[in-house]
Amino acid sequence: DRYCVIMSGGIGSRFWPFSRTDRPKQFLDFFGTGRTLLQSTYDRFSRIIPPENIFISTNELYAELVSDQLPEVEEDHILLEPQRRNTAPCIAWAAYHIQALNPNANIVVTPCDHLILREDTFAESILKGLDFVAEYPALLTLGIKPNRPETGYGYIQIDDDGDRDIKPAKTFTEKPNLELAKVFLESGEFFWNSGIFIWNVQSVIKALQRHLPELSNRFEAGAGIFGTPGEKDFIREQFAACPNISIDFGLMEKASNVFVLCSEFGWADLGTWGSLYEFSPKDRSGNAERPGKRLQYECNDNIVAAPDEKLIVLQGLDDYIIADTENVLLICKKSEEQRIRQFVTDAKVKF
Ligand code: GDD
Ligand code: MG
Repeated sequence: DRYCVIMSGGIGSRFWPFSRTDRPKQFLDFFGTGRTLLQSTYDRFSRIIPPENIFISTNELYAELVSDQLPEVEEDHILLEPQRRNTAPCIAWAAYHIQALNPNANIVVTPCDHLILREDTFAESILKGLDFVAEYPALLTLGIKPNRPETGYGYIQIDDDGDRDIKPAKTFTEKPNLELAKVFLESGEFFWNSGIFIWNVQSVIKALQRHLPELSNRFEAGAGIFGTPGEKDFIREQFAACPNISIDFGLMEKASNVFVLCSEFGWADLGTWGSLYEFSPKDRSGNAERPGKRLQYECNDNIVAAPDEKLIVLQGLDDYIIADTENVLLICKKSEEQRIRQFVTDAKVKF
């Protein structure tokens, strides 16, 4: 059977100051479509996965946001993490939880900060992937053809034998530095990891036991408790001690049974302001066209985000992110946006 886990517990710090700890980017409607990123993700998957098999994994802090935005999801389908431990513990818990419900589940695990343009092609890829992992003990990820040396993604080198669209991976490198990313891009052998993983529940649990035993042992200790009323207390006791690590560093870089389904469905990770810029319509000077009252003189290639009613006047600025909120104003070169994460850390320490 098909299952889906929507990972929705990140804080989206590179989208600061719009994305805030109390309302991260996945709970925002970036494009004015009336649906937030989380809602759009749910809509996309509820077309192909039975809604009773869709789980939302998030932090306790966002319990209310999730229930408000997805009233159709039952409370027992929302896995609330008591601490922030990144995506490996999130995926491990979901795997042990789902295994208790169905030991033969085929699961798609998805982030919810993505923009997907061709939903039909996307759905086809997911279904093809789910069929594949029902048959092979593979850790499958959807791969995207890279077009720039982005340092915020994982890179997968593929073993290209013939033109099958599911290919074995040779190497997986999470968030390389710029120099390495350029080499990967030029070689033509690498795909971006979309962060959308597909696997049979047994395959992922086996891989966790092998590569992250300090994590899987915590959950093994709870055999019999998943899916019962005792699960919540068990998680409360165990979760804090889980290692804080992403699935990419913790598992995908190490595993040898990684496969890639290469697909083109018009994908972007709305990870940063630059990605939002890329997907916004632009005026003749290359400035992103966004809602609100704006005047720009001798300005090129900027993205301005501010409350609609606030008039923003700019002169002589090229290639900037200008993001204004009630209590934070950020002005940062677009090319330096990976540093925003650090700015947030510094701001928390200082103020
Ligand atoms: N439940 C839960 N708990 N969810 C989390 C947590 C957590 O502690 N931390 C992050 N998430 C969610 C985020 O909300 C997001 O939807 C997803 O997990 C991925 O986390 P990100 O923090 O956005 O990861 P990333 O973008 O830096 O990197 C991942 O995605 C890239 C593509 O978008 C990696 O998988 C990369 O390899 C990949 O290229
Ligand atoms: Mg992301």
